Formats: sequence, C-alpha cells, structure tokens
Amino acid sequence: MPAAGGIGPGNGKEYPGNLTPFVTVTCIVASMGGLIFGYDIGISGGVTTMAPFLQKFFPKVWEKKEADKSTNQYCQYDSQTLTMFTSSLYLAALLASVAAGTVTRKLGRKLSMLFGGLLFFVGALINGFAKAVWMLIVGRLLLGFGVGFANQSVPLYLSEMAPYRYRGALNIGFQLSITVGILIANVLNYFFAKIKGGWGWRLSLGGAMVPALIITIGSLVLPDTPNSMIERGQTEEAKTKLKKIRGVDDVEEEFKDLVAASDASKLVDHPWTNLLKRKYRSHLIMAVLIPFFQQLTGINVIMFYAPVLFNTIGFGDDASLMSAVITGVVNVVATLVSIYGVDKWGRRFLFLEGGIQMLICQAVVAASIGAKFGTSGNPGELPKWYAIVVVLFICVYVAGFAWSWGPLGWLVPSEIFPLEIRSAAQSVNVSVNMLFTFAVAQVFLTMLCHLKFGLFLFFAFFVVLMSIFVYYFLPETKGIPIEEMSQVWKSHWYWSRFVEDDDYPNGGMEMSKGGLGPKNV
Ligand code: BGC
Repeated sequence: MPAAGGIGPGNGKEYPGNLTPFVTVTCIVASMGGLIFGYDIGISGGVTTMAPFLQKFFPKVWEKKEADKSTNQYCQYDSQTLTMFTSSLYLAALLASVAAGTVTRKLGRKLSMLFGGLLFFVGALINGFAKAVWMLIVGRLLLGFGVGFANQSVPLYLSEMAPYRYRGALNIGFQLSITVGILIANVLNYFFAKIKGGWGWRLSLGGAMVPALIITIGSLVLPDTPNSMIERGQTEEAKTKLKKIRGVDDVEEEFKDLVAASDASKLVDHPWTNLLKRKYRSHLIMAVLIPFFQQLTGINVIMFYAPVLFNTIGFGDDASLMSAVITGVVNVVATLVSIYGVDKWGRRFLFLEGGIQMLICQAVVAASIGAKFGTSGNPGELPKWYAIVVVLFICVYVAGFAWSWGPLGWLVPSEIFPLEIRSAAQSVNVSVNMLFTFAVAQVFLTMLCHLKFGLFLFFAFFVVLMSIFVYYFLPETKGIPIEEMSQVWKSHWYWSRFVEDDDYPNGGMEMSKGGLGPKNV
C-alpha cells in the first residue's frame, strides 16, 4: 500500500511545553499578518464592479459593460486592463517574497513582518487618494511588496513559535486572518458602494491602512523566534526566550535540537542552490506543487470575482455584493473547523476530504450554469431555485477549500522545511503561490468568456490531480516536531529514495531509534 501518511502520534521525541498564554497571544498577534493579504483579496473584486470606479479609471470597460447588457453574459467584463489592476499586486508580491527570503534569514522574521506592514500602509495611502491609473498601479505594487514580505515571514514565524502539538491550529491563525480580512473587505464594499457621490471606492482602498497598521505595530512588539535568534548567534537569549514561550524550564532537548539545526544550516553557503540538492527533492517539489495546486483549485475565481461572477449569472449589483458577503462568512467559519481538526485528524484527511467536496461542487456548478446559459451566454429568465442552487454549491465549495487547501497550503510548507533551507524554500512557496494567483486573476475573465461554464470543469480536473498527489506523495506531518521532520521523508515509500543515511545528521536518526519505523510503505 503506497498511500498512508506516516508517523503515529506519541512516537519519537516529546518536547515539554504548554500552550502558554504568552505563545497564544504572540501567535494571535502575528497571525494578523494575514489580514493585509485577505483585505486586498476581498476588496479588489468589489471595487472593480463599482460604477464610479470603472467610469473614472477604466471608462472603456464601463462602456463595454453598459453596451453589452443584453448579449453574451460570459464576456461582459473581459478586459486585460481591468484584470491587470487586480493581478499586478501578485507580481510585486512574487518579487518581494524572494527579497524577503534573505531578510527573514539574516535579520529575523520580525523585520520582514515590519517591512510588510509599512509597504502595505504606503500602498493603501496612495490608492485611497488615487487620481490617475498610474497611482493605482504604484499603490498596488507597494501593496504587493507588503504582501510578499508578510506571507513569507508570518507562516514561518508561527510554525517556529508554536509547541509542535498545537502547531497546526496556531499556524492556521494566519489563514483565519486572511479569511477575516476578505470578509471585512466584502462587507465594507457592500456599504461603501452605496455612498452617494461615488467615492466609496476610496474608502475601500484606503481602508487597507488599518490592517497595515495592525501588523506594523504587532511586529514591533512581538518577540523573535528562538530558531531565528539561534540562527543569528543570540544563543543564550534564545534559551531564555524558549523557556518563556514553552512555559517550562526543561527545554534542554528542544534547545539542543534547535542549535543542531542551526549548526547544520551554517554549513550551507547558498540556501538557494542548496535547495536543488537531491536530498531536498521532496521539499522543493512540495514548495512548488502545494501553492500551485492551491491556486488551481480555482478559489480565487470566487474570492476576487464573486461579485462579477454572481453578476454574470444574473444577479443584480446589490445581490452580487451580498452573495460575496455570504461566501466570505462561510470561508471564515469553515476555517475554524480546520483549526479544530488539523492536529486531531491530520493534514492528509483534510486535504482529501476537502478535495472530494470541491470536486462535487464544481461539477454541480458547471452543470447548473451550463444548463441555463448554454454556450451562448444568454440565459433568458432566471428562476429563483437556480440562483439558490448556484450560491449554495459555491458556499459548500468554499467551505471545502477553507478547511483544506486554504490553511494547509500555508501550514504544510512552513513546517516541512529544515532550517537550512527554510527561508529560501518558503520564498519559493510564496512566489509560486503569487505567480499562479496572478495567472488565475489575469486569465479568469478571458477564460470565462471562452470556456464558459467549462471553466469550472477545468479547475475540477486539477482538483482530481492534486488529490491523487496528496494521496500518494504527501506524508502526514501532524504531531511531529518541526526540527524532526526529516523522519517523514525517511520513512516514506517514495521520498525515502532521495534520503541518504548520513543526511540530516541531527535529530532524525535519533528518532528512528526511538521507534519510528517506516510505516508508510
Ligand atoms: C489563498 C488565497 C485565497 C484565500 C481564500 C489563501 O490560502 O492563498 O489565494 O484567496 O486562501 O481564503
């Protein structure tokens, strides 16, 4: 049997440590880094359906939309300029995450978070006061730099801070903040769109300053992670900090492993080229495929364009913004489910269950849109049941994502990389995520125009692929200390062939003596 996840709970090392109020509060504050990303995801889609915004910055799109009213619904928003507005941010984030890789490693996780907050703040300011398209673009580039820094550092920070038994739950705080950010943005869009005088979009875009301030201030008050302090030579301070974080004095074992991991990482001159070594093949593939698959679930079609999509399938402007609020609520609530379950049921279970759920929903949504709109894109009269079915299945789909690929797409990469490649590999993870967020955002409206309802089947195909991948290739990482993760590869039916016996000299070997047999073969 090739599948199975890996290492049973209770095996291997047990580091003492509690879920102290200190670590909980620290992780909650750090998680807020997700707010800036989420706020932006939620705000752009709504703003691009606001008539005054379109008239001011994208008059051609506005005219086309007005003129197209009675014709092919699938194509009414198809404009490369408009999508560029949404997606330009992700290109900037891609570049920033590479720079953040070095900052995070050499100067600490906190500083990357601080940069993230500051850049995002300035971007939001410029966008709120935008008078011309170039200001919008400059603002969005700065927002993107901010997101790149924050997304590179926050998940690593959380995974390093958390006691390993609660790592999943604490790390998913990041995704929870993303979803809360999206929801707040959706609600604000709903109200700001109604402001007389048509300047509500300024509040929507400028409002991003608030989450930016939260993460900026947060990064100033947060402690650095012991892992990062050791990595930067502050060994004694790191030990004191570790005791405080874990709430126990007996941190010897964990401390020793952190130092060993750091020593091993010092032997590495070039973390980037290091990533290409054979023994890191599994890590590299995960760093690329997990974010790729996360985006190919098609989630951002809903997140960015829910109002546009609902509008396309026949909802009025107000109902469309409202439906985006509904999917936003589902997204938040379902993320709570994964916080509850991730350290109990494991990552693989959530991945696979979520995959099946998304697949079913995509098929139903494709069928119902296909049945009504056919290939002409002209639906005629739309009955109420139809709208309910579509919104319902989109909500179930969002829930499936929100307790699987959403949080796990950030959690799993942040916990599987050994310290010597952690920062670089996380940069790869963020870059690939941003690249495909960009690609989906950029081509979605064109794809909708050409593939029509088949668009949902396109994403469904990838959901099948990613579920097969998880089933065969992703080991279970629940309940394994982060510096001991090498065991999951060593005992994996496929990845073990890339690991030599003398790879990972620290930590891993001791664990296998401790009873970690290769279960997953
Ligand atoms: C993804 C985003 C997505 C969000 C939705 C995140 O994990 O990276 O692209 O928009 O989840 O909640």
